[in-house]
Amino acid sequence: QEEVLILAIESSCDETAAAVVKNGRTVLSNIINSQIDIHTLYGGVVPEIASRKHIENINPVINMALKEANVTLDDITAIAVTYGPGLVGALLVGVAEAKAIAFAKNKPLVGVHHIEGHISANYIEHPELEPPFAALVVSGGHTHLVMVNDYGDYEIIGRTRDDAAGEAFDKVARAVGLGYPGGPKIDKLAKEGNPHAIEFPRAHVEDSPYDFSFSGIKSAVLNYINQCEMKNEEINKADLVASFQNAVVDALVSRAMMLVKERNIDKLAIAGGVASNSALREALSSACEENGIKYYSPSPKLCTDNAAMIGAAGYYDYIKGVRHGFDLNAVPNLKL
Ligand code: KG4
Ligand code: ZN
Repeated sequence: QEEVLILAIESSCDETAAAVVKNGRTVLSNIINSQIDIHTLYGGVVPEIASRKHIENINPVINMALKEANVTLDDITAIAVTYGPGLVGALLVGVAEAKAIAFAKNKPLVGVHHIEGHISANYIEHPELEPPFAALVVSGGHTHLVMVNDYGDYEIIGRTRDDAAGEAFDKVARAVGLGYPGGPKIDKLAKEGNPHAIEFPRAHVEDSPYDFSFSGIKSAVLNYINQCEMKNEEINKADLVASFQNAVVDALVSRAMMLVKERNIDKLAIAGGVASNSALREALSSACEENGIKYYSPSPKLCTDNAAMIGAAGYYDYIKGVRHGFDLNAVPNLKL
């Protein structure tokens, strides 16, 4: 078999990342420069700052990825880059860089969908995983329940009607005073709390059993905080975030299990930043075990934004014949 080496670039949000991936599954390098420290000062990602930081970091990050993989640009088979969805100014930095390298080195250019990348993170550590399988994609911008019918062939079964799961984590964390990004901080504090202390609503979307809604849970948490403040009652933050997390996990797990049962699917994979949540991982893996379903998850480092996942997705697109021209543009609201 011919060796396919993909140089992958990811810059859709606040991580500047580059990776070299062999044949879609073997990561030779995976470099991530996180801008979290700067954005934390502002309580969230500032798009203009993100773009400027990507420009400063992208060349060093790519050079590190090549060096660590012990290859040069001449050894690379194709360049894969995230072209959406995401922040337009942030995406443009990666897209322009990928086009420049592809042009200068006369290499094929493959644009990758960011969510396809998240799902494909599962291929890296699970060599036996092949479509068809169900995937739950939960990140700061997305909450999707997807059937992966084949490589590059996705069927969206359910999606959020309002906030993404990660967005709800971030907003609740901010309200409780935990800071940005909220997901990991809630995850940690929730371990000390009682997940059944407060009963938050599990929203259902009328006539769309697979769709999610998280703004109701988020508002219920904010109302609870306001009421406590009005009554001058002390808030047990650990109980509060544990109960919130439990409501979100419940909503995610129940719909994922409904899908695998209804369609008789024997494999479920999770992906995206929220997939690194320890309560979600535990709840899903035990629900899968109870129902005889194989459960797959990337290790936490491959759940949050990285370029190795773009290299995995880019490989399968490349061998399917996907090629983009130099007119490739960033598409902030790209559909899967
Ligand atoms: O996939 P990602 O890195 O970026 C997007 O594509 O959005 O996801 C980031 C999101 C943030 O909302 C962050 O709070 C959340 O993932 N997150 C978590 C955890 N780690 C990251 N949420 C809950 N628990 C975690 N351990
Ligand atoms: Zn992401």
